[in-house]
Amino acid sequence: MHTETQSGPTRAVLGGLAAEGMNPVLTAEPIAIAEQESETNLLNLLIVDDERSMRESCREVARALGFNTQVADSSEHAFSILDSTTIDVVLLDLRLPGNHGLDVLRQIKERRPEILVVLMTGFATVESAVRAMKLGAYDYITKPFNFDELRMVLERVTAHLKLTSENRLLREQLRSRHGFGSLVGHSPEMEKLYRIIAKAAHSTHPVLILGESGTGKELVARSIHYSGPYRDKPFIPVDCGSLVPTLIESELFGYVRGAFTGAVRAKDGLMATAEGGTIFLDEVGELSVDLQAKLLRAIQEKEIRPVGGTRAQPINVRILAATNRDLELAVTTGTFRRDLYFRLNVLTLRIPPLRERKQDIPLLIGHVLERINNATAVQHSFGDDALRLMLDYDWPGNVRELENCVERACTTCSLSTIHVADLPTGLRNFAVQAQAKTAERNSSPEVITPIEELERQAILHAVAVLKGDKLEAARRLGIGKTTLYRKLRDYGASG
Ligand SMILES: Nc1ncnc2c1ncn2[C@@H]1O[C@H](COP(=O)(O)OP(=O)(O)OP(=O)(O)O)[C@@H](O)[C@H]1O
Ligand SMILES: [Mg+2]
Repeated sequence: MHTETQSGPTRAVLGGLAAEGMNPVLTAEPIAIAEQESETNLLNLLIVDDERSMRESCREVARALGFNTQVADSSEHAFSILDSTTIDVVLLDLRLPGNHGLDVLRQIKERRPEILVVLMTGFATVESAVRAMKLGAYDYITKPFNFDELRMVLERVTAHLKLTSENRLLREQLRSRHGFGSLVGHSPEMEKLYRIIAKAAHSTHPVLILGESGTGKELVARSIHYSGPYRDKPFIPVDCGSLVPTLIESELFGYVRGAFTGAVRAKDGLMATAEGGTIFLDEVGELSVDLQAKLLRAIQEKEIRPVGGTRAQPINVRILAATNRDLELAVTTGTFRRDLYFRLNVLTLRIPPLRERKQDIPLLIGHVLERINNATAVQHSFGDDALRLMLDYDWPGNVRELENCVERACTTCSLSTIHVADLPTGLRNFAVQAQAKTAERNSSPEVITPIEELERQAILHAVAVLKGDKLEAARRLGIGKTTLYRKLRDYGASG
């Protein structure tokens, strides 16, 4: 047994532990100082106290709370551990011999500012504990303390660290360099969309996602699911447009054994598979009127009835739906149920077509190029002529068309720089038409292009060629960066 003094605060701690029914006394086998715990716990705690009984009592409490703990009996020892291992929290005695605890705190905060420090202090040093808080300590606990007090402080620490790491993770996941999650784009239209997605992610209402083909409806649906609190649950996309109509019902709601020929055993539907998560009804406008009624009932009653079954089965699923059809028109012509439309349309998200956010084009091109270049030996890039054309083009097939265009150009072009001639026919035809128009304009001597327009073309071109690097664009154009930003704003191309 240890022989350390049990007078004063330590006794109080031990008494407190005993009162809680815990074994406050150290084990007969002394534990080597700074020995690592074998359990794999989430948070790593370092206890720094010169009193062995104190260290061990705190260690008992911390272990019971799931901390992975290490102990140190001096500041030197503490720093050697801090320098060599991952530590999230330090429980630090303010009255360490030789080295004032406040100095230790200051040094920890200098070297590892992310570490939370909880100070242990005697009554007489409350004042210095307050000073310590100003130096960046997370909390302090006054000796003598009991099990409950220590537990509460450590639980607060755990909650704090969990929250900050969740927030950080979420921010990292959501705010990528080029946009939001896997969505690329910094145009004001896309920034607005990201804000709505972030809000929608934390609600459980159905969302109707509208947008032309290829604008990213499925990507947006995924972003809503994966940035919300149920991202660990399933995300199940269902293409209502491509499934055989007679199969959709059994696919969505499942079936019981013997429901139809070939139904040799019961099968869960996609709604049940998505339990706790999200079902994404893509091309929802294609559902037959009969199925619309069944879907409406499932949403209203929060239950489904498998094909051939008599018993309803409760479901808890978030519904997201998308369409590129004019559902309002479908409602007025009677091909889409009004009540279902209102159920699905609690929140509406409209994704703007690419031609309305042309400033995202260089970023999107860069994004696709990066993916391709990472997988191939040839490092492709676009020549000025090709880039200019891609910026002028209206992209009726939106981002999907742009992706295909870049992919095809990279496949067909054997050289590293891609020019107009390497672009797909649709774009080349567009280029020919555009050239014809310019030639027509230039051939009429009375048409004079204003300098302002020439300047606009030069600026947009530079930003596109330099893949959105505005500082470099300003430098190369020979204008100030503030001027460039202002002009881009005037052109509606800032971001
Ligand atoms: N903002 C974006 N950033 C990066 N990639 C995008 C973006 N928008 C769309 N894409 C890509 O474009 C392609 C089409 O996107 P998606 O399938 O989500 O579009 P959609 O609106 O569902 O199209 P459709 O109506 O034809 O089903 C996908 O490969 C997707 O990754
Ligand atoms: Mg789609």
